[in-house]
Amino acid sequence: MTVTPVPDAAIIVVAAGSGMRLGAGAPKAFVGLDAHTVLWHSLLPIFGARRAAQVVLVVPPGLEGNAQTEAMDAAATVARRGEASDRFELVSVVAGGATRQASVAAGLRAVWPSVATVLVHDAARSLTPSEMFDRVIEEVERTGSAVIPGLPVVDTVKRVAASGAVGDTVDRDTLLAVQTPQGFRRDVLDAAYASATGEFTDDAALVAAAGHPVRALDGHAHAFKITTPADLERAKTIVSGKAQLAMRVGIGTDVHAYAEEGSARTLWLAGLEWPGERALEGHSDGDVAVHAIVDALLSAADLGDIGGLFGVDDPAVEGAHADVFLTRTRQVLADAGWVVGNVSVQIQARRPRFSVRRLEAQAALSELLGAPVTVSATTTDGLGFTGRGEGIAAMATALIVRASDRSAFP
Ligand code: CTP
Ligand code: MG
Repeated sequence: MTVTPVPDAAIIVVAAGSGMRLGAGAPKAFVGLDAHTVLWHSLLPIFGARRAAQVVLVVPPGLEGNAQTEAMDAAATVARRGEASDRFELVSVVAGGATRQASVAAGLRAVWPSVATVLVHDAARSLTPSEMFDRVIEEVERTGSAVIPGLPVVDTVKRVAASGAVGDTVDRDTLLAVQTPQGFRRDVLDAAYASATGEFTDDAALVAAAGHPVRALDGHAHAFKITTPADLERAKTIVSGKAQLAMRVGIGTDVHAYAEEGSARTLWLAGLEWPGERALEGHSDGDVAVHAIVDALLSAADLGDIGGLFGVDDPAVEGAHADVFLTRTRQVLADAGWVVGNVSVQIQARRPRFSVRRLEAQAALSELLGAPVTVSATTTDGLGFTGRGEGIAAMATALIVRASDRSAFP
């Protein structure tokens, strides 16, 4: 059993709003982004952060049990993916208040005594990356200041009177569009909340009003707040994009007939030349194993097949060997954002006796693809065209991996 150390940081996740502007018929945190809710998605990066913090969930009164279930599932998902240990034991759930400020105050009362740094985060910014939580905690610890993430304002900003008359243009270089998580020393936030008189739109404003310094750091485009139906659509699009498979498999086969007895060709099979063995027909070297591998890789990447990549009238293909085929295939995959995970190919042939050169073939093909290639061979007990010795067949499967996820693939 792993023992989680007592946390010295807490993240208050405010999720008690009703989501009037979204108008989805349910409290915003409980609206679905895919099979999971906004709240579930907001917890995933928090549980996946390097720093294990107490997580105080502030939810609409009556939905505490639902929030517990969401949190338990999100923590288990992060643990199953190996991103962090199961952090559910660090979760507290409390009921929120009528305003965001009242909800934060309710969360603050549930923060454990061991905690020195408190972050306040909107559940509605559910796609905020893990890295921001770690960065904000570290910056509060390093500087002692309040820390808020934000992005530069890209639009031109003008003052407009209630009458609709446009006034001056505000210098946008001095503006920051502020996000959450906002980080504070716990004693500073406690004191600021204890002495707060008015309503503030964010916690940094409240802390600044109490006379404490606030520093800005870089926010993230994905930390936007889901406020309107258009924001919800954007969040759904990002989530579905992330869900696209990071790996794909493909299959390929090839068959070549033996050349006439006494042909000038030599046999090329699995990237090796086999002097003295009966050659295969073909425009290129007729290497069925390599051709099957190319088709498996192209099909995995949905990039067509060998005939589309190497036309029969392509002069580069005439007499070409494995290096030409596999190097070009590897390149078109790379151009499409894929690297080869591994390849397995099986040859069906009566001759040659493959086993003596199996390791040599594997090494040559692996070198060309930059990934493990395993090769096996079988006879077919005298059956079929390979059994009758009319030709050779090969079947290959390939696994390809998104280049951006290569680190997940040792
Ligand atoms: N929030 C809260 N308690 C409230 C009001 C808001 O915990 N009484 C939380 C929301 O759940 C949200 C965050 O504060 O995660 C930011 O608020 P906002 O985007 O305004 O959410 P809602 O108040 O739910 O939306 P709306 O203003 O459109 O009703
Ligand atoms: Mg609101």
